[in-house]
Amino acid sequence: MRIASPRHAAVWVACLSHHVAAVNPQNPAEGAARKNAYEIFNAIHSAMRQWGSSLNHNGLSTFVATVPAGVTLYHGTWRTTPPSGPEWLAFEIEHAELFAHARWKFPPQEFNTEGSSMPLQRQRGIFFQEENGYKAGKDEDEDEDSEGHLQIYRTTKPVRLLYLDGTSAANSEMGTLDLQDFVLRGKRNAEIWDEFGRATSLCDIVTSWGLQGVIRMEAGFEIIKCDFSDSMELVSNIQRPSGEAQGGGLGWEGYTEVHPFEWIRAVAQRYHGIGASRVELDFSSMVSAMFYPVSLTNNKSPKPNLPRLWYAKEEELRSIRARVEEVVKERLDGKHGSINWQEVTDMIIARYADRLWFMAERVQSILELQGELNHLTNTHVDYSEEKDGYQAAISRCKRHYLSSVTPETQEDHLIVAAMEEVTHAICYELFLVRLSLENQIRLDKLKYNGNVPAARANRFLESYKGFIKDLMKQLRWTRWKECTTCGFDEVCFAPLWPVGDKDSYEKPNCRNHSSIQKGWWDNRYWDMPKRMPHLPKPPVREDL
Ligand SMILES: *[C@@H]1O[C@H](CO)[C@@H](O)[C@H](O)[C@H]1NC(C)=O
Repeated sequence: MRIASPRHAAVWVACLSHHVAAVNPQNPAEGAARKNAYEIFNAIHSAMRQWGSSLNHNGLSTFVATVPAGVTLYHGTWRTTPPSGPEWLAFEIEHAELFAHARWKFPPQEFNTEGSSMPLQRQRGIFFQEENGYKAGKDEDEDEDSEGHLQIYRTTKPVRLLYLDGTSAANSEMGTLDLQDFVLRGKRNAEIWDEFGRATSLCDIVTSWGLQGVIRMEAGFEIIKCDFSDSMELVSNIQRPSGEAQGGGLGWEGYTEVHPFEWIRAVAQRYHGIGASRVELDFSSMVSAMFYPVSLTNNKSPKPNLPRLWYAKEEELRSIRARVEEVVKERLDGKHGSINWQEVTDMIIARYADRLWFMAERVQSILELQGELNHLTNTHVDYSEEKDGYQAAISRCKRHYLSSVTPETQEDHLIVAAMEEVTHAICYELFLVRLSLENQIRLDKLKYNGNVPAARANRFLESYKGFIKDLMKQLRWTRWKECTTCGFDEVCFAPLWPVGDKDSYEKPNCRNHSSIQKGWWDNRYWDMPKRMPHLPKPPVREDL
């Protein structure tokens, strides 16, 4: 054998790595979709829903979204005229009202929240521009920014946006910004608090693709609208009460008593959807990092182990971004059909979630358990068939909710793979428990002549319940974290950035207006990244 010269060896290595790249590319792969099936299923189920997107806050997926014509949106500001953009629009009145106050003349004390009755929300953009030495609106009248204004807008045409899922408006280092900073902006070390810079660069990116902005979520959904004069009209611009909440005058009475609660109530009303068809998601346009064989390891925070992109390689991030761009451009021509995959997840969760919980947590006897299992599985059993260990029935069961859709896009096929993985796990487990129970009971009947000792029956019941519990752990449906019975004067509370406590993440609970802020300051769930160090001052032009 001829010994290759170093140069040849280098070529050989290059060929080899090229070959490896072709086999294990930065391409989406069915294997990855199957590996991340449970997370993908839950991401689809939680898209544009405040509940699951708050608990699974590290969103790694994008969707093309449309806000139809005629939708009312809110903007809180110190301005008396519409901003040009990029600026923020809220779907909820209360969310926008948080920003409808006089322009701060000093940095807001949002980092010193101890004992505060309300988180002083950042006034986005303005605060950070001033920090950087840019004085926003410096040529405007001094008086003009001393009162808050609520501006109400209405869309005049459909507005096309990129939806970033999870709690993507959270300024945290927990992974909530990975998708927009690492993937879309290609920035590994973006300043966490630089919201204005983030909005500007996101707008540069998405408008170059033909979109008009971005939808994100914190405690409330928001739009970063790149151009306020595009496809919407100002309906009204009305001044807010003067002064401050504490000791304030007309209009502020009772604010500190009820406002934090009423804000969260407004947000909680969107736990299961934004409502009133205000956003249409194109589920077939979903592009997810979870479709790619990239590392989703998250050991960068002591917080729950939600996926993030810390360890993904640059070329992998770039290829995900390229696919987002490609899909956006494809979908904008309006010629493509779209499958509502969320409705498929809704059907599956409606059928199984509460019944799995009942079997795992509440059934009292083997007979009760068998009854539930038969109820869920009989549909798929053809009793004229030969006994095959329910193989044919399992395969009918797992296809049941998927058979009415015909996947078209590359992403549809990846979603089908993920969904099938999930429905297979459910159906397989249910039939497995059913079959073992049937065998067990047959043998016990012979052995104990119909009188199975109670202790033995109980032991088996517990172990079968354990199998169902394991399945639930795998599925991690956020349905099971919902509160069951809150009063009309309460909300089911889970951490909603920027507020919330660690205990409520583990066990969301009912809160009223006096208990709503429990643990927000002393047992805070969200990390609080350091305030940004002073960024370089704007360049001074020497030649002037
Ligand atoms: C609010 O909830 C707390 C804790 O559940 C309860 O002790 C309190 O009485 C409630 N307050 C009101 C005003 O309902």
